[in-house]
Amino acid sequence: MSMREICRGAACLALALAALPPHALGQTPQGPYGFGSAASQEELADFFAIPADGRRLPSGSGDAARGAKVYADQCAACHGAQLEGNPAKGIGGDKLIGGRGTLASSTPVKTVESYWPYATTLFDYIKRAMPFNAPGSLSDEDVYSVVAYILSKAEMIKATDRMNATMLPKVIMPNRDGFEGDPRPELQLYR
Ligand code: HEC
Repeated sequence: MSMREICRGAACLALALAALPPHALGQTPQGPYGFGSAASQEELADFFAIPADGRRLPSGSGDAARGAKVYADQCAACHGAQLEGNPAKGIGGDKLIGGRGTLASSTPVKTVESYWPYATTLFDYIKRAMPFNAPGSLSDEDVYSVVAYILSKAEMIKATDRMNATMLPKVIMPNRDGFEGDPRPELQLYR
């Protein structure tokens, strides 16, 4: 793969910095081109993807009771105390529950409950992207817990159900069969 092929957006900046003489960044030159440094395990941990079947879900677990606290502290300001969403400019977050069965109507309400096909994606998305102002700051236990809280509020699981790598893939979301597969080969990332 040439450098041009792997250089996109922010990665270009990283490459440009990496292309500076090593002494400019205080690094010991490495690799075939004599610049940059090998990514550490810690840095690589920021790159993850949890596919629909739940492969690579981390260990740990959480339940709605703990999730209610995480939600109140870290999510409610933007998504509303009742998960109803917040239309305010600046901190507005989506409505997370409700809208079941409305997608084909003239007033569709798109939420995690009505639209999302897999509960595992909820874990992946929250761990990766939420809270919006501090993505990646939640522990895996907190993510499992707040996922359990949202799923229990949407009445997809019982309030006492614990979510973990085994249980989460077993949750059947209402719109699971509402999607068509996309056969383009470049999208088959997890095969
Ligand atoms: C500072 C405001 C803010 C906070 C805090 C916040 N969110 Fe969000 N959230 C957003 C915004 C804005 C979006 C839409 C992001 C986008 O579309 O790119 C969003 C999107 C989401 C979605 C996707 C909804 C959908 O249907 O697409 C989920 C799920 C979610 N947030 C969960 C959470 C959870 C759980 C927390 C707490 C751990 C949290 N958010 C904290 C603002 C926030």
